[in-house]
Amino acid sequence: MNRVCKILGIAKPVVQAPMTWITSPELVAAVSNAGGLGILGFNAGFETGKATPEETAEEMRKMIRRTKELTDKPFGMNVMTSAFDRAGFSRSTIEVCKEEGVPVLAAIGTIDADQIREWKEAGFKIIYRDMYPTVASAKVAEEAGVDILVATGCDEGGGMPVEATGTIVKTALIVDAVDIPVLAAGGIVNEAMAKASACIGAEGVYAGTRFVLSKECRAAQATKYDILNTDADELIVLTEADGHLKWRCTPHKVAKAAIEENNKGNLKPSTGSFYKGMLKGDMEAGINTVSSAASLIKSIDSCEDIVNELARGYGY
Ligand SMILES: Cc1cc2nc3c(=O)[nH]c(=O)nc-3n(C[C@H](O)[C@H](O)[C@H](O)COP(=O)(O)O)c2cc1C
Repeated sequence: MNRVCKILGIAKPVVQAPMTWITSPELVAAVSNAGGLGILGFNAGFETGKATPEETAEEMRKMIRRTKELTDKPFGMNVMTSAFDRAGFSRSTIEVCKEEGVPVLAAIGTIDADQIREWKEAGFKIIYRDMYPTVASAKVAEEAGVDILVATGCDEGGGMPVEATGTIVKTALIVDAVDIPVLAAGGIVNEAMAKASACIGAEGVYAGTRFVLSKECRAAQATKYDILNTDADELIVLTEADGHLKWRCTPHKVAKAAIEENNKGNLKPSTGSFYKGMLKGDMEAGINTVSSAASLIKSIDSCEDIVNELARGYGY
């Protein structure tokens, strides 16, 4: 049992990465029951967005309770650090996590050492993912006391790191720089990719796109089939004004229009809706964002099969 398993209290070093809208208690529990760690993402299981932090936290309480009905294994919650959480949505949700005994926080945002100390004192295990990771920020996070770091390369689905370093190099650099365990994120979609990340010193995987194509993921069936039919050469990257948000999108209407705007120099293109594109399957009106390795995924499998496959890359 490696350090990731020991820290998180899980049997296999496979973490299902949080993904806005498309996670749910069913997905998270299926991953945790298979021996990995499921993480509830923003709006996990929600039918509609909630207007206030308090309403959001109370809806999340229902999702946490539902998850606990489905599994007695550890699971986590995606939160933002104080620097990113200006409206207080994560602050309210973290209070609910304390009350409900959620054991793990998967945090994004700039590190706030005082906040990390508070979370540790409250008993949480902390997985930290800098969305734009550097060796320097990994050291700051280690010093602040996070338990596990995620090294994300620009191969990932969702918002990509600005810097064009792939997962293998980014992971190797961060493993070399810190003593705490590191999870590799970005393009880890099968056993071979998991094994590659183990070879360069990662102690587990943080996989998103592969779990979109799970039977238990609530993303629309049309979205899943769109990903299954992704041609590796079709993926495009949208750039936004501050350079901080790039989206890989399949080339549908909204994405094509946004790319044309990008080409004209407009770095504030309308990129459509995540909710429509991924949850509702209306990809002409929204985004379907995936890893650059998406075309290596060949089938829609159960979370149990996915956890087992990725874990084999780590000799489990
Ligand atoms: C559809 C989608 C939505 C995502 N939404 C979030 C999010 O809300 N919060 C977050 O911390 N990361 C989010 N991510 C990033 C994942 O947590 C993870 O870092 C990434 O999926 C790993 O790369 P992979 O997709 O190649 O496995 C998202 C990724 C995807 C594919």
